[in-house]
Amino acid sequence: MSGLLEVTDLVAGYGNGPAILNGARLSVRPGEVHCVIGPNGAGKSTLLKAIVGMLPIRAGDVRFKGESLKGLRPDQALRRGICLVPQERALFPAMTVRENLRMGGYSIPDKAELERRIDGIEERFPILRERRGQRAGTLSGGQQQTLAMARTMILKPEIVMFDEPSLGLAPKVVAEVFGIMKLMAAEGITIVLVEQNALMGLKHADRGIVLDLGKTLLEAPADEVLRDPRIGELYLGGRSEA
Ligand SMILES: Nc1ncnc2c1ncn2[C@@H]1O[C@H](COP(=O)(O)OP(=O)(O)OP(=O)(O)O)[C@@H](O)[C@H]1O
Ligand SMILES: [Mg+2]
Repeated sequence: MSGLLEVTDLVAGYGNGPAILNGARLSVRPGEVHCVIGPNGAGKSTLLKAIVGMLPIRAGDVRFKGESLKGLRPDQALRRGICLVPQERALFPAMTVRENLRMGGYSIPDKAELERRIDGIEERFPILRERRGQRAGTLSGGQQQTLAMARTMILKPEIVMFDEPSLGLAPKVVAEVFGIMKLMAAEGITIVLVEQNALMGLKHADRGIVLDLGKTLLEAPADEVLRDPRIGELYLGGRSEA
């Protein structure tokens, strides 16, 4: 079955350095939540960066709706509907919440339409309406993550990829982050999630992808990955039960 986004035999690395990805594979199915797990340094962040064109593809391919994204810049990938929320969230700390939302839609020429879309986001995420005049840098970690996630919806993306959205957040806030992801999925957005907390990530996903040493070791329904005894030992702290 051909997915919405197909990554095949991907080889990529930084500058003239060694290949970090060396045969990574990923099949992204429309409307589903995909969770990529793997040890530190496996190449998870590199995979997301290569997909959106932040580093060149040396071999293999990334195809979105059958068309290769090879050679495209991140802004071009974004325009096609693929958005990456990096680990560091990339907010503008000195700008207000509302201004950050505007920045998310700077490429929309119709400013009235942009304001309407922002109103729609504020309706879905009341905390952002409440805090609209507050500088993003002064929000709590959870609120900043909410803003970073909600901001992607302005451009009505087809695929949103999150790199470790729950990193450094308290458990209650992590639950909220997964709630936002669920809301996005319910609106038809396809999700690719890189998650350090493999157990938590897989529980919220339809598909699980295990990456190690730049290679995809396993791609399967998330509950199968959760039950796989090898995966349980390696990545889930020995707990394979969901
Ligand atoms: N900007 C960079 N320049 C050179 N090498 C890099 C760069 N970023 C990452 N690497 C290297 O690429 C390898 C994979 O890193 P990557 O960040 O993709 O791993 P990861 O699976 O996301 O790990 P983590 O769980 O720690 O986030 C590591 O060996 C890392 O040192
Ligand atoms: Mg990473």
